[in-house]
Amino acid sequence: MTGVTDRIVLLAGATSDAGLAAAQALVDAGARVIATGRDRAKLDALADSVPGISTELVDLTDEAAVDELATQVRESIGPVDGILHLVGGFRRGDGIPGQSDVDWDALATSLTALRHVSRAFYPDLVASPAGRLAIVSSTSATKPHRNTANYSTVKAAAEAWTAALASGFAADAPERAAAVIFAVSSLAGLEGTLASRFVDLWSEDAATLNASRHVLSA
Ligand SMILES: NC(=O)c1ccc[n+]([C@@H]2O[C@H](COP(=O)([O-])OP(=O)(O)OC[C@H]3O[C@@H](n4cnc5c(N)ncnc54)[C@H](OP(=O)(O)O)[C@@H]3O)[C@@H](O)[C@H]2O)c1
Repeated sequence: MTGVTDRIVLLAGATSDAGLAAAQALVDAGARVIATGRDRAKLDALADSVPGISTELVDLTDEAAVDELATQVRESIGPVDGILHLVGGFRRGDGIPGQSDVDWDALATSLTALRHVSRAFYPDLVASPAGRLAIVSSTSATKPHRNTANYSTVKAAAEAWTAALASGFAADAPERAAAVIFAVSSLAGLEGTLASRFVDLWSEDAATLNASRHVLSA
């Protein structure tokens, strides 16, 4: 098996434009796609747009539900080879005093989902001959602004978690698995670029890719 053909890939939070582009690119390249989301109508619309994908209704902030999803996917489809984490969200506030806990709690769901999904599927990624996990961070994670401190801090934490996954892959699946950070300023108009760069992860050397960060721009 070469490239992404016949690989099983899970899209964590798949119903945005980025999820649509990724699902289409993966199917076009011959991958088996499992699209997850928390809105049945949006998942059905995605499945209509990209025939052949599987969909799973799940709240990825629910630890037990994610563990159940991993077991069910493993049994019904097979162990996953790849994960693209797309759960995000954006909040801004007026300066440091405007960085509310309400906004923090909303943004932190993205990190919680990443932790749950990568933990539950970690054994699959490590066992795969070509495990790949990618997140989409923000360029503001390394250059935070006072009005988006909550957002940038959550993104920086997601990058730290992904770097820790890379450490795990280096120890548990050397030369096979890679955890990668893509970073954008804005994703609008870059959905296709993100999708093709994610597909291309299976054409690149795992050891070189692991722990790498790639800024995507138009
Ligand atoms: N958009 C940008 O300009 C931009 C800039 C920098 C970084 N990024 C990052 O790029 C990634 C993709 O961006 P996006 O704008 O497509 O993200 P998004 O709007 O946050 O949507 C991603 C997907 O996650 C789903 N989702 C949210 N919470 C969920 C949960 N608890 N369980 C299951 N699914 C859940 C959403 O479904 P619902 O529709 O049900 O919420 C949607 O399908 C994110 O990580 C984002 O932070 C985006």
